[in-house]
Amino acid sequence: MIYFDNSATTMPYDEVLDSFMKVSKDYFGNPSSLHGIGAMAEKLLTQARQQVAQLLEVYENEIYFTSGGTEGNNLAIKGVAFAHQNRGKHIIISSIEHASVKQTCEQLAELGFEITILPVNKDGRVEVSSVEEAIKEETILVSVMHVNNETGAIQPIEEIGSLLKNHSKILFHVDFVQGVGKVDLNIKKCGIDLCTISAHKFHGLKGNGILFIREGVKMFPLFTGGSQERKLRSGTENVAGAVSTAKALRMIFQKKKHDMKNLLEVSRFLKEELMKIPGVVVNTPEENCAPHIVNFSVPGVKSEVLVHALEEKGIYVSTTSACSSKKKSISSTVFAMTGREDLAESTIRMSLSYQNTLEEAQTVIKELIAALKRLKEVMKS
Ligand SMILES: Cc1ncc(COP(=O)(O)O)c(C=O)c1O
Repeated sequence: MIYFDNSATTMPYDEVLDSFMKVSKDYFGNPSSLHGIGAMAEKLLTQARQQVAQLLEVYENEIYFTSGGTEGNNLAIKGVAFAHQNRGKHIIISSIEHASVKQTCEQLAELGFEITILPVNKDGRVEVSSVEEAIKEETILVSVMHVNNETGAIQPIEEIGSLLKNHSKILFHVDFVQGVGKVDLNIKKCGIDLCTISAHKFHGLKGNGILFIREGVKMFPLFTGGSQERKLRSGTENVAGAVSTAKALRMIFQKKKHDMKNLLEVSRFLKEELMKIPGVVVNTPEENCAPHIVNFSVPGVKSEVLVHALEEKGIYVSTTSACSSKKKSISSTVFAMTGREDLAESTIRMSLSYQNTLEEAQTVIKELIAALKRLKEVMKS
């Protein structure tokens, strides 16, 4: 098996699974319980929060454990929208945000919020000037992702952060889900107020995530009840999930230090070889892109068909579209970048981890060329 779909999800590290098992079994207490078993669980949760805060270079009381990226994005955006609506109801996002941002904003629009959706340039990047132009008196939030999940294009977060420093009342949310452990992001330096992270994208477990909320940001809780997570997210804490998330975060930061060279070599090889294949268009921009995502299109060959042709050879890639199987699957990001439907409906995303090798990349290119040849012959006949 060659797994090149790490932006969809990653295989959990053994150490992460071990820590989840150990905590679930040996420290199963409820952190809110007054007795010693509860206290042990609470201690582990506190330690996990401290470790995460240290790794992200933020304060411990700015870390909230969630169930992942979707919840983090919903909580960040709705939490700000509902808490700050008396000041204004205008929110700015980009046209290439993940569905958990886009659809959250669609829901808010139904509730009377005004949403500005910024275009991207041909490299799939938001222009800082377009953020500036969209700002109004009523703007309460700007939400722009860090690394695009389809093309890998890195967004100008630091520049948007600097711009927003001149607008002290506007909060800045960043969906950091695809960048963690692959592309650095200095939360404090970039002036970020809220930042979403999901554990299963860096070899942690599904259903676990982190939301950074800058100290002092007023939020409206979406879950009420037992007042856990400083009243922002009620519900008995997933201690094993938090501990294993801290472990995965520490491990991916270490891998980044040691294995980045290999990852860059593999992705550079893929991009160079793809560009040589007639009929293939590489959508991932040449500069300012994450090292683990390579996106291309083969106009005339539907993405699903190519995904299945590669799967027959034990190669796992994705169409980039997470939309329902009943919907026509076209890449909204590639369409937003190029305006071309033929590219958007034939998009393939290869997404790597530090485990992938150059040999695997060579096999993938060889099998891709063979699959395209077969498909073209079938289409001709
Ligand atoms: C950029 C981005 N944001 C958010 C999410 C949602 O994360 P989760 O699967 O943890 O809900 C994803 C998942 O694909 C993503 O790529």
